[in-house]
Amino acid sequence: MKLIIINGPNLNLLGKREPHIYGATTFEESYTALQNKYPTVDLHYFQSNIEGELIDKLHQVGFDFDGIILNAAAYTHTSVGIGDAVKGIETPVVEVHISNVHAREEFRHVSFIAPNAKGVIAGFGIKSYQLAIESFL
Ligand code: DQA
Repeated sequence: MKLIIINGPNLNLLGKREPHIYGATTFEESYTALQNKYPTVDLHYFQSNIEGELIDKLHQVGFDFDGIILNAAAYTHTSVGIGDAVKGIETPVVEVHISNVHAREEFRHVSFIAPNAKGVIAGFGIKSYQLAIESFL
């Protein structure tokens, strides 16, 4: 099972950024824990703050990976381009959010990814990523 976690803008600051919302753990720590928990999963990771780089990565992995776990962060709510990329690739995408976006500001209730995602997991903290892996297994 070949999976990739793709994280969008500002998620490189996890651990430092608004820890009351996003937790005090860096993503690198969480990623290592996931690799240890799922040793048989061929797990990959990519993060970018740049919309076009996220689209390029979706194109690269979107025809031969088994699954994509995508937290497009703020671009979830704004990016027609990322939404179109998710629509155009073959690999199923699970949309993930650390926070419960539906319990926050109204602009976070919109997703350009969800209409073409296999499913959406939001609000379980960093464990949202683990639940997304489980959904593919
Ligand atoms: C987020 C929620 C988004 O609304 C926000 O812009 C993020 C992180 C989350 O994981 O909870 O950067 O995707």
